[in-house]
Amino acid sequence: MHRIEKKENFCIKNMTSFKIGGDIAKIYFPKNEIECAEVLERNPNIRVFGNWSNTLVSSYGFDGEVMSTSKVDNIIIEDTRIIAGAGVKGPMLSKIAMENGLSGLEFMIGFPGSIGGEVYMNASAHGQAISDVIESVTLYSEDEGFFRLSKEEMQFEYRKSICHNNPYIVLGAEFNLKKKPIDEIKAKMEENLSFRKSHQPMMTLGNAGSIFKNPQGDSAGRLLDSCQVKGMRIGGVKVWENHANFIVHDNNGTSLDVLELMLQMYTKVYEKYNIKLEPEVRFLGHNNLREVEICKTLYQK
Ligand code: EPU
Repeated sequence: MHRIEKKENFCIKNMTSFKIGGDIAKIYFPKNEIECAEVLERNPNIRVFGNWSNTLVSSYGFDGEVMSTSKVDNIIIEDTRIIAGAGVKGPMLSKIAMENGLSGLEFMIGFPGSIGGEVYMNASAHGQAISDVIESVTLYSEDEGFFRLSKEEMQFEYRKSICHNNPYIVLGAEFNLKKKPIDEIKAKMEENLSFRKSHQPMMTLGNAGSIFKNPQGDSAGRLLDSCQVKGMRIGGVKVWENHANFIVHDNNGTSLDVLELMLQMYTKVYEKYNIKLEPEVRFLGHNNLREVEICKTLYQK
């Protein structure tokens, strides 16, 4: 364990896309699957994070251990197949696939996340999902050690995989892509980027992507918009004026500001439509009683 990079009382704020978060007591940065397994063997219940782009970390910190897969960034390309470690960033993989004339990952160009998180939650946009191009996933669990599951065995659904109901950690994935002219792939990526620029906040404005998942057959953005939440502010964060399912951090906000605002958004939709929106953003923290109380309502499932 002593070889594995670790930091103590590590301020996570600037690593997160929200630009919010306090100190984490101990964080491990393994560099490969073997090092990940060592950390996981010692602490099987450790929370695992990738690029901190879909996560709200408490401003009151976290006095436990976490593992970041951000340095597990191996990439192998073999003809139409790409094997990538959990820490490889989506936009980087999207560009590498394009440069090799491989299509299927164009949607990832505007996603700040990394492969581990994107596989875990079956990231999707613009009619493409990561599950469309997955061949297999390398996982780790305390009981089974390393193992591989095929796309079918991963039980992908909208923003869901087998990992949600099992203690499985995604360590990497193998993709099977389609050969296409580079210009065509580039054009699709540019189209996706311009959608993102016109519909979603830039990453320079702290945010964590969509706050809630779309309920089946409906749109969280549309439901929230009809409850007039746009522009609603608590402390240093507000609901983005251009899309009701984004919270932006523009003025020294805290995690409690975000959670209070999420609770107001959730409550408005529940009262008007009797629909309980499910957060897409993960939360890490347990030191503030009000935060714990809000999470009991928001993260019921
Ligand atoms: N809408 C409103 N008001 C709003 C926002 C949206 O009426 O304030 C309506 C839109 O007009 C549209 C519908 O809601 O008819 C859906 O909106 P949008 O096209 O923006 O897509 P989305 O469902 O909000 C999803 C993903 C995004 C992904 C986009 C593009 C979820 C929760 N979000 O957003 O993913 O980029 O589609 O494909 O599924 C993310 O998960 O973090 C993310 C950004």
